Amino acid sequence: MARSSRPAKQPRPFWQFVDTDPTAPATGEFTAANLEKLDYAYLPLVNEAGMRSWVSPRLQGSPAGSYHEFFGVPLASEDLPHSLVHRGLWLVDDAGKVFSLSGLSPAGLTGRDGAARYEAGPGWFRLTRRATGGRFEVAATLWCPAEIDEKLEFMRVKVTNLSGGRLRLHPYAAIPIYARSADRLRDHRNLTSFLHRYEMHPHGVTVRPCMSFDERGHRVNRVGYTALAFGPAGAAPRGIWRQQRSFLGEGGSYAAPQAVYELQDAPPAKAKVTEGGEAIGAFRFRTLSLAPGRSGELLLISGISADPRAPARWTRAARPSPGRFAAASLQATRRFWQDKLHRISFRTADATFNNWLTWVNFQPILRRMYGNSYLPDFDYGRGGKGWRDLWQDCLALLLSDPGGVRAMLMHNFGGIRIDGSNATVVGEDGAFIADRNDIPRTWMDHGVWPTLATGLYIDQTGHLGFLLKTRGYYRDHLRRRCRATDPDWDESRPPQLRTKSGRAYRGTILEHLLAQTLTAFFNVGEHNLLRLEDADWNDGMDMAPRRGESVAFSAFYAWNLRRLAGIVGALAAKGQASVEIAAEMAPLVDRARGRRVNYRSAPAKRRRLEQYLDAVSGGVTGRKVRLPVAALIKDLLAKSRDLTERIRTQEWLTPARGLGYFNGYYDDRGRRVEGRIGGKVHMTLTGQAFAVAGGVATDEQVDAVVRSVDRVLCDRTHGGLRLNTDFGTVKMDLGRAFGFQYGEKENGGVFCHMAVMYAYGLYLRRRPEAGRKVWATLYGKAIDQPTAKVLPGQPEYFNAAGRGMYCHLTGSASWLIYLLLTQAYGIRGQLGDLVIDPQLTQADFHGSGEVTVEAHFAGRPLAVTFVNADRLPAGRYRVESVSADGAPLSAEPLPAGGVRIARRAIARLPRQRPSRLEVVLGRRVSAPPGR
Ligand code: G1P
Repeated sequence: MARSSRPAKQPRPFWQFVDTDPTAPATGEFTAANLEKLDYAYLPLVNEAGMRSWVSPRLQGSPAGSYHEFFGVPLASEDLPHSLVHRGLWLVDDAGKVFSLSGLSPAGLTGRDGAARYEAGPGWFRLTRRATGGRFEVAATLWCPAEIDEKLEFMRVKVTNLSGGRLRLHPYAAIPIYARSADRLRDHRNLTSFLHRYEMHPHGVTVRPCMSFDERGHRVNRVGYTALAFGPAGAAPRGIWRQQRSFLGEGGSYAAPQAVYELQDAPPAKAKVTEGGEAIGAFRFRTLSLAPGRSGELLLISGISADPRAPARWTRAARPSPGRFAAASLQATRRFWQDKLHRISFRTADATFNNWLTWVNFQPILRRMYGNSYLPDFDYGRGGKGWRDLWQDCLALLLSDPGGVRAMLMHNFGGIRIDGSNATVVGEDGAFIADRNDIPRTWMDHGVWPTLATGLYIDQTGHLGFLLKTRGYYRDHLRRRCRATDPDWDESRPPQLRTKSGRAYRGTILEHLLAQTLTAFFNVGEHNLLRLEDADWNDGMDMAPRRGESVAFSAFYAWNLRRLAGIVGALAAKGQASVEIAAEMAPLVDRARGRRVNYRSAPAKRRRLEQYLDAVSGGVTGRKVRLPVAALIKDLLAKSRDLTERIRTQEWLTPARGLGYFNGYYDDRGRRVEGRIGGKVHMTLTGQAFAVAGGVATDEQVDAVVRSVDRVLCDRTHGGLRLNTDFGTVKMDLGRAFGFQYGEKENGGVFCHMAVMYAYGLYLRRRPEAGRKVWATLYGKAIDQPTAKVLPGQPEYFNAAGRGMYCHLTGSASWLIYLLLTQAYGIRGQLGDLVIDPQLTQADFHGSGEVTVEAHFAGRPLAVTFVNADRLPAGRYRVESVSADGAPLSAEPLPAGGVRIARRAIARLPRQRPSRLEVVLGRRVSAPPGR
């Protein structure tokens, strides 16, 4: 076949950032043209009051106040290409021709609609469509108002006459109202619609179901779901429909509501029902009569509130001048998000990267607000926040506002059980929940995250005293790390650990950290590494509870044991000679007092753990013992060494020439998972990430791991590191992940979270070039729009086709910001002092000799510019000097080339405006560390 000489057609990008000036803060705002061709796209819309909404390019969406308070019908991503339910806006002309804004109309569904364009930024979205023939244009902007402390979503509609003559249009709008718990979708959906009660207002309708349906105990419901509409100059709509059927009509649908297509008026008041039926807030407005070039505005408000006066309050605020009210709210919302997101702001020469990072910066906030629920990709979430996500999302938040996160950290410590396990979900009201699906289980990684986040909090703030604050423990019917239940547990008691005499028991934060870390250390399997229990970070490793071991997270615990020793050492340096712990816990600190355990014996370790679980499973005595800090440090380091040495030697694999890496797992039959198995090389990225980061791997091992990961785990077609090789079997003795199609999710997806944690480890081990390659590849994939098919931001993973999956909510975003700021730019706290220790590569300087980042430290805004006049590669330079607004800052040199600046020097800088810190880099004489 003859080859075509025509050049290959470049696929059109879906979206484009608006800000192209790399020296200004990147707003992340973008314009887009053909989003209707992007099947699963949507953007989150949210406010701090707790409205959790989203919008698709076709105006689908399901705002929710909580899992049991869905305003709109909950949709999953697979519904998006198929569901017609959306926020509708129709205009009918005098000839009866119907224009639909969403694209979900008979014409739109067959691609014969007028052209649409889109604009969006963090917190808002706009769809503009021009009517076919170009007579008029309609723009709808949606957002959840940041400046109003209520669960609200606004949709502002502007109709502009583009024709040469006067235009008469009859507007209709519809807001779908589902008004109940997501659980009711497949459990009495029809029956629960009979509970609906309607309250009519001049501007709309409130649906307040009389009962909140739950067969375990129905309750009176007070929550109302209100849709309000305002015409030009605040006019009330001319007609309001509250029942979906009467607006859509028998045989009608959201694509073609009969009321619209037949130019109907709302049924007269006396025919109005006051209860029952699927609900809608549908409106007919007075006819718009627009002179050429003129616009008319409508405003739609969706709100959730238990306050019966709320609809009147919202009406009073909007009615006098809906246009002005909406414009001010949108402006305040945009400003709110921009201010929040620019607490950390990257100003590289690559404006696309800066803008993309604005969205990545948004993601940890989104995770804090949505958890893993509400958005279409997260149909498994039931509200609340997962334990590990909660702590990891703190990483980025701690960098921008450590003071603000402190209360959250403190609260979450109350979810730890004395046996070292924890409530796996923290509800939206802060309540601790044992498990999302009532399954008694322990994820063995859960104990690592509080230590990581607390370490960062202490480094950023210097607040060592936090370790000695006290907090209660979580107690429920589960005992012995969820392996047993307590038949005598009374569910009506508060879920709090009590002493045997009935007093609420409290322990220090340090004691909580020890409870989690020490129990994990003694909980070993037959290879003397920590048991996998019901899974680790990888949720897909959930079928090896008996004999499974996670070498991967044993390395993380080894790292944490050292980290804890360091923190306790810092306490000692402040004059703290001893610390108190529960008397029952003392035998776990066996190198400090009592009988020592032979760490080489797995059974001996397990016995010690069992003794501890025996001692605490019926409550604690409340007695404390004092441990000298020096002895505690010695104990922690001995434990860390034990794990480190075992992993280094026992788990090091060299399955083929040139390959060297760590085994990460043992399966439920006690068999090693990685290495050469059945003639194939098996390998996981998780097995490498923490051995590298945690200092378990020697320098030679790190280099071998880097080579092996590149060779074995790299996706040769689309780039990026896969989570594992294809084991080629379902592996019922390891976990569900191996039932997934290879390349999806935890079975070989290019999983951003693990890739970024691995990259972070490479920076810690002073391999910035290798680390940068890992995250920069992810960035490249995310903005490769024709392949990734995602809106800006980092998705959870990329599948085998290179498509970005599970958008907006992912722990990888927090880790990427954490990595960039604290390692690449090297701006981080060290026990409260500021360290500046950059590992910026030449690529980070984008060919120039300077790069700037804005960050906060000690409550002071800083704009830090790195000056690398000689264009030196990372590892070849050291920080020569630092000045603040031109005045030199005294900085103590650190061995790796960075400097430490005393907190008090930073605290002298102004709070209100950013101080310009200039960091001059000069050639280092000694060899770079880590080699
Ligand atoms: C998701 C989960 C996270 C889990 C990971 C791997 O990752 O939220 O808890 O550890 O899968 O199973 P994320 O959403 O953070 O990218």
